[in-house]
Amino acid sequence: MTHRARKPYIAGNWKMNLDRSKCLDMVKTIKGRLGDGNDREVGVFAPSIYLADVTAVAQGSPLGVGGQNIWYEDSGAFTGELAARMLREIGADRVLIGHSERRHLFHEPDEWMGRKVRCALNHDLLPIYCVGETIEERRGNRTERVIKRQLEAGFEGVRAEDSHRFTVAYEPVWAIGTGETATTEQAAHVHKMIRKWILQRLGDEAAQSLRVIYGGSVKPDNAKELMSVEDIDGLLVGGASLQADTFIPIIEYDAR
Ligand code: 13P
Repeated sequence: MTHRARKPYIAGNWKMNLDRSKCLDMVKTIKGRLGDGNDREVGVFAPSIYLADVTAVAQGSPLGVGGQNIWYEDSGAFTGELAARMLREIGADRVLIGHSERRHLFHEPDEWMGRKVRCALNHDLLPIYCVGETIEERRGNRTERVIKRQLEAGFEGVRAEDSHRFTVAYEPVWAIGTGETATTEQAAHVHKMIRKWILQRLGDEAAQSLRVIYGGSVKPDNAKELMSVEDIDGLLVGGASLQADTFIPIIEYDAR
């Protein structure tokens, strides 16, 4: 199986940006450009307050819509949190878990990751589990150790049969929002290491079907090069996903 046997997955993480009408405009524009969605999967991760409206506009198209975080219980005294079943209820079909901003700004520990991932899968949400090292960890030669620890945590309850519904995003923290992209060599090295880890953990078939996507200062002018790397199966885009004139060329990276 070559890497293109895995459907390319281009995802936009809007973080705490855009307003309601801009979100809806973006969805309409993306929807109009997607075609039947057979050759690539596209998803947007919108602020949760707009998700119900965004999913309503996306309906009837292959565009996936997701939340940026969940808590792993179904209900209870968890002020400010959202349950996976709530995202499902308003029509979202996917979710980000362990984004570096959740880990670093909001101090989410590794111990939560496996439960969040399992909870998403149990509720039929497609999780993207984010991993990545800080610049200090990279400089201290700890990239592999850190990522393996994060993988260990997130894969706690993942089984081989989940591999087609589960995605890993490698997002080096030093490349997020900085304009500094990992070189194709740096990204290729880590993606290969992640796939090897998955192979050892879940076996060959799962390792061949599970997508590992890259995030961190993805732009229209580096999308094609990143997507040419064998183990990069897609892109998780922050800043450049906020406007159609930068996000559409990334979605259509191979048409340029
Ligand atoms: P940027 O594309 O703005 O660097 O953000 C990447 C990211 O964090 C996507 O989740």
